[in-house]
Amino acid sequence: PKKVSIQTFADMRARGEKIAMLTAYDATFAAVADAAGVDTLLVGDSLGMVCQGGNGTVGVSLDDMVYHTRCVAEGVRRTGGRTLIVADLPFGSYQVSKEQAIASAVALMSAGAQMVKLEGGGWVAETARFLVERGVPVCGHLGLTPQTVSSLGGFRVQGRTDEAAACLREDSAALEAAGATMLVLEMVPAALATAITADLLACATIGIGAGRGTAGQVLVMHDMLGVNLGRMAKFVRNFMDGSDGVKGAMERYVRAVKDGSFPDDAKHAW
Ligand code: KIV
Ligand code: NA
Repeated sequence: PKKVSIQTFADMRARGEKIAMLTAYDATFAAVADAAGVDTLLVGDSLGMVCQGGNGTVGVSLDDMVYHTRCVAEGVRRTGGRTLIVADLPFGSYQVSKEQAIASAVALMSAGAQMVKLEGGGWVAETARFLVERGVPVCGHLGLTPQTVSSLGGFRVQGRTDEAAACLREDSAALEAAGATMLVLEMVPAALATAITADLLACATIGIGAGRGTAGQVLVMHDMLGVNLGRMAKFVRNFMDGSDGVKGAMERYVRAVKDGSFPDDAKHAW
């Protein structure tokens, strides 16, 4: 199968095919997800929770991200997989300066990532442009941004007021103008995520807790396999229910994203 590239996302968007993304942290699960047809794998800093047992993403280091990115890339390489690997720039690895951001991005790309993700609007758009100009494909992340959860006052839905929604639309447009290829929208109302998706022509939105109107979906792998230390978020569906194994569950996730049966706005969105 042909390798997924940033052009693939544009082609999928043009023919109305939804993008299925899952997180991955190690070689074996990455290879299984790839074989199940997942289009793109996110080495998320959610590894601070699901791998390290912490209660957030703030303590994850660039070295942690490099290690897990290398593991995931090795799994995909060994099976000759097609998926595109996105890696999170962790908290503190891009806030200091644009120079710090490119150095951190290079570390993740050298470990096997083909795109990096960074959280936030405002000044982040400028940093995104700096990376894109230097050959690093960028994924934005707006709405609930876990790295700044202390500033947001907790894990809660974002963009509920007209003012907050307008701000998110502006930030989305700025990230697209900066050259971002993808944009994760986390925990925002479905109507807002749909509007942002329509606003953006070149940048594919990927929703998590953002309804069915986005160009793609992402879930934390452990959550969609029903393996969880805490309370399951409302936007998650356990794809192991009724599946005969991990690969089967991932295949059902991919199918449900592509045919629009996940998420269900009545159950998994606000
Ligand atoms: O770290 C992560 O897993 C993420 C996704 C939830 C979007 O950023
Ligand atoms: Na993340």
